[in-house]
Amino acid sequence: MTREFASVGVVGLGTMGAGIVEVFARNGIDVVAVEVTEAALERGRATLTGSTDRAVAKGKLAAADRDALLARVNWQVGLGALHSVDLVIEAVPEQLELKQRIFAELDRVCKPETVLATNTSSLSVTEISVATARPNQVIGIHFFNPAPVMKLVEIVRTVVTSAEVVADVEGLCARLGKVDVTISDRAGFIANALLFGYLNHAVSLVEARYASREDIDAAMKLGCGLPMGPLALMDLIGLDTAYEILDTMYRRGGRDRRHAPVPLIKQMVTAGLLGRKSGRGFYTYERPGSPVVVPDEQTPVSAESTLEARARSIAKVGVVGSGTMATGIIEVFAKAGYEVVSVTRGAEKSAKVFETVKTSLNKGVVRGRLGEADRDAALGRITWSATLEHLAEVDLVVEAVIEELSVKKALFASLDEICKPGVVLATTTSSLPVIDIAMATQRPADVVGLHFFNPAPVMSLVEIVQTIRTSAETTATAKAVCGELGKTGVVCGDRSGFIVNALLFPYLNDAVKMLEASYSTADDIDHAMKLGCGYPMGPFELLDVVGLDVSLAIQRELYLELREPGFAPAPLLEHLVTAGYLGRKTGRGFRDHTRR
Ligand SMILES: NC(=O)c1ccc[n+]([C@@H]2O[C@H](COP(=O)([O-])OP(=O)(O)OC[C@H]3O[C@@H](n4cnc5c(N)ncnc54)[C@H](O)[C@@H]3O)[C@@H](O)[C@H]2O)c1
Repeated sequence: MTREFASVGVVGLGTMGAGIVEVFARNGIDVVAVEVTEAALERGRATLTGSTDRAVAKGKLAAADRDALLARVNWQVGLGALHSVDLVIEAVPEQLELKQRIFAELDRVCKPETVLATNTSSLSVTEISVATARPNQVIGIHFFNPAPVMKLVEIVRTVVTSAEVVADVEGLCARLGKVDVTISDRAGFIANALLFGYLNHAVSLVEARYASREDIDAAMKLGCGLPMGPLALMDLIGLDTAYEILDTMYRRGGRDRRHAPVPLIKQMVTAGLLGRKSGRGFYTYERPGSPVVVPDEQTPVSAESTLEARARSIAKVGVVGSGTMATGIIEVFAKAGYEVVSVTRGAEKSAKVFETVKTSLNKGVVRGRLGEADRDAALGRITWSATLEHLAEVDLVVEAVIEELSVKKALFASLDEICKPGVVLATTTSSLPVIDIAMATQRPADVVGLHFFNPAPVMSLVEIVQTIRTSAETTATAKAVCGELGKTGVVCGDRSGFIVNALLFPYLNDAVKMLEASYSTADDIDHAMKLGCGYPMGPFELLDVVGLDVSLAIQRELYLELREPGFAPAPLLEHLVTAGYLGRKTGRGFRDHTRR
């Protein structure tokens, strides 16, 4: 039998605390909610009222249940009010000294049997616990933001936390409808250790003006299916909190440079740009605390007045290649109404591509998404050829041949001779420098990367890769074409991994390193990222789908280009690849897919 906590105290009613109060009160538990001033208390109360009123308005909560929920909360200034609760959760700012002071005070105020918990994201629970005379009753209960929504709770057990307390808190999480993972006391635990390097990296891309905030966020949402982009997430977390977490992780977590907070974060915090809570962070919000983004000076102005005005008109498109990507891209252009000239290495290849495109379009017809006449028209717009000379009249060429620099360079040199002036020459490379390909022509200003995602007809993201020689007109044309295709084109610089792979693969590699260090299991790590951060797949599920060999190759490229020690491929990943465990495609990767 685990202990029933009948009443709990929550200290600090900011971004996390107010949500934690709601979680308890919703589940029938009495809460003493404590702040440091009347004004802060009022803010916390307003957050809870706002949140429950919205739930009532949406029909998710009955008005009577809201009233009962609110009646369970006792609002107080000062820790003295916590004398008789069974459990306290502290959610004050991420500063060790502050937390230690509060825990020492709680130790004095609370009953001897009260369990003291911290919601810290990165500080040492052990160091917090030694500020009390009951370190065996101190534990980490790490909720995720927003606490009422996210299912995961990380339970952090120190070397002295009693097994009984761990079991009691696990029982409590079950009662709250949360899924818990119990882990030891390491900087960032599971989710933040994997998340914050990625967030910091995304901020560094903004700082370097590698891509715009909108494009970085759109890339991660559309390319990886994440619920929000990294910069919007930084705003939700709060830049002050994120700064403290990164700083602690850097100092506690082996001084990995990737956790050293990017200078821009500190500047924004100093300027009061804390994210949603202050009404402005990477984005500007309707008012402090509001999730509604409003336009500001960085918001891209409407397309007509800028980019598209300079776009060249494109009617006829050449696609070179006959693999998965080329086939998908041919379908995408033909369906969108472009005349397409497909160039493959022979009639046999063309016939295969034709069949694949037809089958795919037929699926659309069967599912009622495409009319038969539209299918026939799309197929009718494609001409099939085995010679590049047929590209003499196209306005745009998309190259999607094998990922080998020499092959691509030779191809672009030929295109340079064949194509008329003013044509946009695009490569779909995912790992080669676009500038190397551009310099094989006499017209590098017209060369751009168009990095489609697989399957091209389904994925709505396209990374538009601008080299240092690409003209604004070429980029504008690429952007306009993406719009015509119904895709979101995000513009970025010509660096290894572009936006999505550069941000995604180091995170996957970090997950492998965490597994390798035996900090947690593949299942718990996958759970943590799905339930704590809303990722559609956990890192090991995704690695098995993408292929371990492909992932290793991308990670190697990133490491070789940036020489960032933290990007060195995880030895376990290399070993699995050497052993032939490549993921789903070989039946085994991190998991065995042959057993049902
Ligand atoms: N923001 C997130 O996404 C997130 C997620 C999980 C965990 N956390 C952790 O939760 C904790 C709180 O972070 P936050 O983002 O909610 O911070 P916040 O700045 O939004 O809120 C902190 C609150 O604590 C109050 N406070 C300060 N000193 C106090 C005291 N002596 N007594 C009572 N209240 C006091 C402040 O008035 C403020 O309302 C941190 O440890 C953070 O690392 C944050």
